[in-house]
Amino acid sequence: MSGQKILVTGGAGYIGSHACVELLQENYDVIVIDNLSNSKSESLTRVEKITAKSLTFIQADIRDKQALSDIFTTHDIYAVMHFAGLKAVGESCLQPIRYYQNNVYGTLVLTEVMEEFGVKKIIFSSSATVYGEPDTVKYSEDLPVYGATNPYGKSKAMIEEILKDLAQADTLSNASNPWEIILLRYFNPIGAHISGLIGEDPNGIPNNLIPYVSQVAVGKLEQLSVFGGDYPTIDGTGVRDYIHVVDLVKGHLRALDSLGSISGCKAYNLGAGKGYSVLEIIAAFERITGQTIPYEIVDRRTGDIAENYADPSLALRELSWQTEKKLDDMVADTWRWQSQNPNGYE
Ligand code: NAD
Ligand code: UD1
Repeated sequence: MSGQKILVTGGAGYIGSHACVELLQENYDVIVIDNLSNSKSESLTRVEKITAKSLTFIQADIRDKQALSDIFTTHDIYAVMHFAGLKAVGESCLQPIRYYQNNVYGTLVLTEVMEEFGVKKIIFSSSATVYGEPDTVKYSEDLPVYGATNPYGKSKAMIEEILKDLAQADTLSNASNPWEIILLRYFNPIGAHISGLIGEDPNGIPNNLIPYVSQVAVGKLEQLSVFGGDYPTIDGTGVRDYIHVVDLVKGHLRALDSLGSISGCKAYNLGAGKGYSVLEIIAAFERITGQTIPYEIVDRRTGDIAENYADPSLALRELSWQTEKKLDDMVADTWRWQSQNPNGYE
């Protein structure tokens, strides 16, 4: 609702910055807390440029209880969108303590302070990775969430469990101001704001497909390694459900609308419900950018699955949300951001 204050943790990051744009455009007041461990404050300057509105930025860590308490003392926060977290799968396998410390402990400090201040509405950035490796390729929310194969994914599953317990405790005690918690399980967010001013700005060599392909297209990287050509998929390469980041953050706005009328903890998939293979992504990039994407099919990447995509029907039924953008929009918007900002925010 217009004028309500939303605390956005991790708001300077890729998805958080796009959420700030949508929130400001829907007339919310936005307070961002971010420690800039994986982002630059320039993203927020650009958010203000896109929207011609200002936001409040506090550079701090969500594990800093005093910093969080100061925010809740100064601002009458309606709800929290919780994006802050570390997200690199490979890194999490090498630095598990850092991942659990940042993601799980960070969420504990955040929820503790929220409870102290009686602010008990939160929308959490979860991931399809919590489903692990189920026996199906189409993931619905009722699948078990105990199969994550790496510390990053496990940290998301653990946080989901913690948040479910908070809701459960309020049900048991019949609390007068119960937790309202929405877990949003993202499939593969890609794309960028249509202005080309904000987008994904990974540090170093990207691990994920789309940033890698776009850096090949812009000439920063020489060729793409396609991880596996013998999967049981349409063309042997991995299939994923890519979702435009603007569609994704619109899902958060619809989740925000539903707070106030739900109680307890609810999980929703945010995905398009359709998968594309790596070769289909390469073909789309070549068609839209006019660049050739040199690639080589190499061995499978450890931990990868063949195929997955969302069953997004619950979000449509209960949040009145579905994706609007198509693959060509995702690629064109990624390309606009990448070609206008070949070195990201630097
Ligand atoms: P990102 O790294 O661009 O953004 C995360 C932001 O959180 C960064 O700005 C970082 O500086 C900040 N941050 C990290 N730890 C912090 C801490 N302790 N205190 C304060 N700020 C902190 O990542 P993103 O792609 O925007 O992802 C946002 C959220 O969505 C993450 O929780 C991520 O795990 C989740 N998610 C992302 C994807 C994806 O493909 N991008 C998929 C599923 C889930
Ligand atoms: C990865 C993470 C997942 C995380 C998601 C979003 C792994 C195993 N999984 O998902 O937990 O939530 O990112 O950040 O890391 N590919 C190539 N060449 C590349 C890169 C990727 O062929 O250089 C292929 C992959 O094998 C896969 C597809 O492209 O089939 C998508 O890969 P990626 O973008 O890394 O996303 P996920 O593996 O789905």
